[in-house]
Amino acid sequence: MARRIPEPFRIKMVEPIRQTTAEDRRQALVQAGWNPFLLKAEDVYIDLLTDSGTGAMSDRQWAGLMMGDEAYAGSRNFLHLADTVRELFGYAHTIPTHQGRGAEQILFPELVKRCRGERPVFLSNYHFDTTKAHVELAGARAVNVLTPQALDTGAAYDWKGDFDLPRLREIVAAEGDNVAAVIITITCNSAGGQPVSMGNIRAASELARARGIPVVIDAARFAENAWFIRERDPAYAGASIPAIAREMFGHGDMFTMSAKKDGLVNIGGLCCFKDDEALFREVQVRCVPMEGFVTYGGLAGRDMEALAIGLREGLDDAFLSYRIGQVAYLGERLREGGVPIQTPTGGHAVFVDAARLLPHIPAEQFPAHALACELYLEGGVRAVEIGSLLLGRNPQTGLQESSPFELMRLTIPRRVYTNDHMDYIADCLIEVKQRVTEVRGLAFDYEPPILRHFTARLRPA
Ligand code: F0G
Repeated sequence: MARRIPEPFRIKMVEPIRQTTAEDRRQALVQAGWNPFLLKAEDVYIDLLTDSGTGAMSDRQWAGLMMGDEAYAGSRNFLHLADTVRELFGYAHTIPTHQGRGAEQILFPELVKRCRGERPVFLSNYHFDTTKAHVELAGARAVNVLTPQALDTGAAYDWKGDFDLPRLREIVAAEGDNVAAVIITITCNSAGGQPVSMGNIRAASELARARGIPVVIDAARFAENAWFIRERDPAYAGASIPAIAREMFGHGDMFTMSAKKDGLVNIGGLCCFKDDEALFREVQVRCVPMEGFVTYGGLAGRDMEALAIGLREGLDDAFLSYRIGQVAYLGERLREGGVPIQTPTGGHAVFVDAARLLPHIPAEQFPAHALACELYLEGGVRAVEIGSLLLGRNPQTGLQESSPFELMRLTIPRRVYTNDHMDYIADCLIEVKQRVTEVRGLAFDYEPPILRHFTARLRPA
């Protein structure tokens, strides 16, 4: 195995975390209705629920907080942020938002308004769940066009975030004027934090543009995607990460970004336009009542300063090599321990294939969620289900949607946990694997009508 890359930072402030007893954890989980989302964070030892807003800011970002200009309009931090976006991505127009879904809620209705077809549809390699929700709230359909290569978690394939291009071509031709936008999600979270190749980004973008369809980049993990392109595509072997990022963004017309991931902040988002000033103005109008005035969009001046700094830090080669290396290290430990995972590991998380690890639990008893509960009981590690529980029911028929995956996501916050924590997580999960046949599926005590995974209460079936 290649030499492990140590953390490219030293620690200047620490936050204690508390290990609990097995009995504490059982009580906490029962109280939480067998749903890790309902646990108190203080009852969690290592929290891998998400990499969103859970990262550690740098000393420079904290210094930036002190430079906040809290003017209601025209804050200097907004101007710094807009300059940074122009320089890094080549986009002329910036609207800050409170987080990624804030950008989605102000952009998508305007794209639907512009769509000439009667039954608007958005096509993406894979819509994140809030993205899908905002597409549907805007009155459109969300269709995923992911490469089938992503579905076989055991098969090594470098670009499991890619669009299935032949299928995309077919759908674009069949839907004609109905296509409101093509959304390129980099990296593809739902497939396992998997990268989209530059060739695929270019081809999807050309296909859309040839028919006048706008191209939206969902840029939450843009820096990780750029790093994978540098590592895996020989054509980019000598390129800088910022140059690759700029080229990726060149294939889009606008982007939404949850800045809580690669932007390295605890809260924030962006909605930016390359040169479509008319659309930018329309979205600005929607921003004011939904997010806030157009130069703060729900953020404090200090938050925009931390983000302007974070966007640059997130592109740092040493940081990205360590970060993605840490995820790969955890994946490698699990693979050695016989735990099936999405292969190769992605940028922000290790995705454990629960359908393969717990074949005795049917999809309707949520094998990945059951595994997450067991991992919490074992060692206080909180993971999250990406599978049938998350997907939910078809709103028309009321039937469970069939999920292509039953995954448990071990999401690694940025600059928070050390490689020793990775060893602890792997040891716990390998321990669970030894008794996996005893793990039971789960049934609902309370099933909320929508977005049920956040607040559902369950019990062992
Ligand atoms: N797009 C992608 C690809 C995401 O992963 C997320 C959030 C969003 C959009 C929405 O951004 O949370 O800032 O409003 N993903 C988080 C996760 C929540 O855990 O994967 P947001």
